[in-house]
Amino acid sequence: MASATLELQGMNFNLSEEQLSVQEAARDFAQNELLPGIVERDNEAKFPAEQVRKMGELGFMGMMVSPEYGGSGMDTVSYVLAMEEISKVDPSASVIMSVNNSLVCWGLEAYGTEEQKHKYLTPLASGQIIGAFCLSEPEAGSDATSQATTAEDKGDYYLVNGTKNWITNGNSSSVALVIAQTDRDKKHRGINALIVEKGTPGFTVGKKEDKMGIRASDTHSLLFTDVKVPKENRIGDDGFGFKFAMSTLNGGRIGIAAQALGIAAGAYELSLKYSQERKAFGRQIFDHQAIQFKLAEMATKIEAARLLVYKAARLKDEHKDYVQAAAMAKLFASEVAMWATTEAVQIHGGYGYVKEYHVERLMRDAKITQIYEGTSEIQKLVIARELIR
Ligand code: CAA
Repeated sequence: MASATLELQGMNFNLSEEQLSVQEAARDFAQNELLPGIVERDNEAKFPAEQVRKMGELGFMGMMVSPEYGGSGMDTVSYVLAMEEISKVDPSASVIMSVNNSLVCWGLEAYGTEEQKHKYLTPLASGQIIGAFCLSEPEAGSDATSQATTAEDKGDYYLVNGTKNWITNGNSSSVALVIAQTDRDKKHRGINALIVEKGTPGFTVGKKEDKMGIRASDTHSLLFTDVKVPKENRIGDDGFGFKFAMSTLNGGRIGIAAQALGIAAGAYELSLKYSQERKAFGRQIFDHQAIQFKLAEMATKIEAARLLVYKAARLKDEHKDYVQAAAMAKLFASEVAMWATTEAVQIHGGYGYVKEYHVERLMRDAKITQIYEGTSEIQKLVIARELIR
């Protein structure tokens, strides 16, 4: 198999045979397993349970986790390649995958104890169960240090009370990583991250959100009323919870950047194909310069987004600082996704505005990539802070 080579600022983007085969497997899976039924799942906001189960079998739910803990032991570049391919077709499936990989499995492997890894990471990484990451609250979205959820220290357990909002995998998850305030005087250094099992008394699933896009992913509020969480379920030292959330999100943003890239590329590929099929004024619409210019600009911006996403992934794999690169990739790729999907609808004309041509769904799906795992405005803040760090 041929390898794709790209050089950027001394970085080698020579994809290995293994990375190319992951890309191909994800592409095949998206076409064969995710595309059928996608309009119906979007209309009905139906969780793709069977497809997620198969993603687990294929090793997509714990891609970067060591095989010792049930994962696939792959690098971040492989992960973004798979995310891109799956997102071209089904961004609902890819957000389920991204949260499980980046926000749940990665954090547990990086900071969990051996006991936590064996008990929780192994079933999560092998796709037997899925996880949720609970940081956002009704009054704490971008302002993530303002945690109203409390985790009162009761000696050998924490007593958790509060509400978490917009939680991806809210209903379908078996395990939630919950960020909560233990000592308010210590501000963000008094926050803890706790592993909370579904079924723990007082832990209930609240309202399901009726969303604009990524409708087949289940997004719920989660409610905690006097939930007792054993001390051994705390991740890291006392007060490490906010740092845990931030460093986990640094990697999460690479996953969402890859999702945004995939959405843009999926809309572009559909548009390129359509432009060679549809005729107007006696010729293919591709032969009209107005359409060529749109496609040329889409291809250029998507390639630029791809370079940023691969660069962030490669930096993470090389254990170099990737905070700014991840924020840049997420900011740029999500802006490109929103713009490119809007152009795709325009190229498709009236057909673009109806569901069976897929681009209107991708346009709706694109919007969230500018909002979750840090809005575009938060990414600019992160980038700016890194400029003078
Ligand atoms: N990486 C590592 N540590 C970081 C960090 C980063 N990117 N950003 C901040 N920190 C650390 C700081 O070093 C600081 O620690 P110390 O005081 O110990 O040094 C601490 O966190 C607090 O940082 P700040 O003083 O900068 O806090 P702030 O309130 O001014 O700003 C923020 C923090 C960057 C705005 C942060 O609140 C943030 O990222 N907000 C966005 C939250 C977000 O991304 N939410 C997504 C929810 S999850 C989701 O969306 C999942 C889904 O559905 C798919």
